[in-house]
Amino acid sequence: MNELAGKHIVLGLSGGVACYKAAELTRLLIKAGATVQVVMTEAAGQFITPVTMQALSGRAVYGSQWDAREANNMPHINLSREADAILIAPCSADFIARLVQGRADELLSLLCLARPADRVPLLLAPAMNREMWAHPATRRNLAQVAADGAAVLGVGNGEQACGETGDGRMLEPAEIMEELAAFFTPKRLAGQRVLVTAGPTFEAIDPVRGITNRSSGKMGFAIARAARHAGAEVTLVAGPVDLPTPRGVRRIAVQSAQEMLQAVIPQAQGATVFIATAAVADWRPAQAATQKIKKDGSGEVPTLGFVENEDILATVAQSERARSGALFCVGFAAESEDLVAHASAKRVRKGVPLLVGNIGPATFGQDDNALVLFDAQGHQDLGRASKHELAGRLVEEIARRLPAAR
Ligand code: CTP
Repeated sequence: MNELAGKHIVLGLSGGVACYKAAELTRLLIKAGATVQVVMTEAAGQFITPVTMQALSGRAVYGSQWDAREANNMPHINLSREADAILIAPCSADFIARLVQGRADELLSLLCLARPADRVPLLLAPAMNREMWAHPATRRNLAQVAADGAAVLGVGNGEQACGETGDGRMLEPAEIMEELAAFFTPKRLAGQRVLVTAGPTFEAIDPVRGITNRSSGKMGFAIARAARHAGAEVTLVAGPVDLPTPRGVRRIAVQSAQEMLQAVIPQAQGATVFIATAAVADWRPAQAATQKIKKDGSGEVPTLGFVENEDILATVAQSERARSGALFCVGFAAESEDLVAHASAKRVRKGVPLLVGNIGPATFGQDDNALVLFDAQGHQDLGRASKHELAGRLVEEIARRLPAAR
């Protein structure tokens, strides 16, 4: 779901080396379909030119409250009236202090002060040296701007332009984009604790070999992200996949179906929603060899015996919590034929109120998918779209089905 499409963002730059990241941030915002109105302090102009920011945003940059381009000479009023948010990135220690004092002696702080605070939120992405970040004055000022209603994004930890290492780095542009997307997502899952399984499992044959499948984990990770953006506390139990953990999501890494089950059972005790997207191996080798199985030269091939893995979704769906209605369970079904018949039967067999069908394994690893929802009333097409878009739609559908008071 592209929460930033059509949004009008006033991007304020205060002075700091991190101004170079504002250029990339502008590019990402424009790419996401937002309009970006850049406003710079005089100090920001020492680090990056208005020409660069104008070229990237496609709009004239403002830097002075005496800008005669505005017919009424009031850029501090005009610029904020059509904004969906004002984002200060980078936000220097000095700029935070100015916000605390309600200063109005240059355009950017004047603009923040004069914004209609009830409908134009203020977001700050601080950037400063670690000593400045840790200073009691900055701590005090940050607490005050937060109390005044500003949202503080970050900060990051790491190597700083001054050569020191610590807290105070501005978040990376991609991280700020994630924070913004989350900010603009309606909090339909506020107060919910969502548990998601994702990816394949790996069933060992010996220390170097095993059986797995082609699940990329992308759909499950997209759902964990969307649930987080919708305000839920999210735990993601993930099989072996090479995907970054969505911001703000707690990840438990597992390998085998048995490990996944052992991780899920205690987590399900505290969850209110369980979404099983993992492509769990149905069978595992009966005995994993402790040493690598060697060829003995006879040309004979080893025979593998299998045992069935426990069904994680069905086990959780039969738990006391799920049966009492305290835990809403959602299953997935990858079918290669006759989706409606197989998925409808699977929903009943697994004992879940909602099952999401996707025609696999063709979608494994792809960025797009096509989903169909199955519930007691029948089925409903969610359409074909990116996995992120579908994850957002699915979260809405889940939220709609949750008991009102939890
Ligand atoms: N699932 C699970 N534990 C298993 C097998 C499946 O939790 N051991 C979950 C999956 O995460 C998914 C749902 O059950 O949410 C359906 O998985 P799927 O592989 O489509 O179905 P199976 O139960 O394996 O049935 P079949 O292979 O016969 O289609």
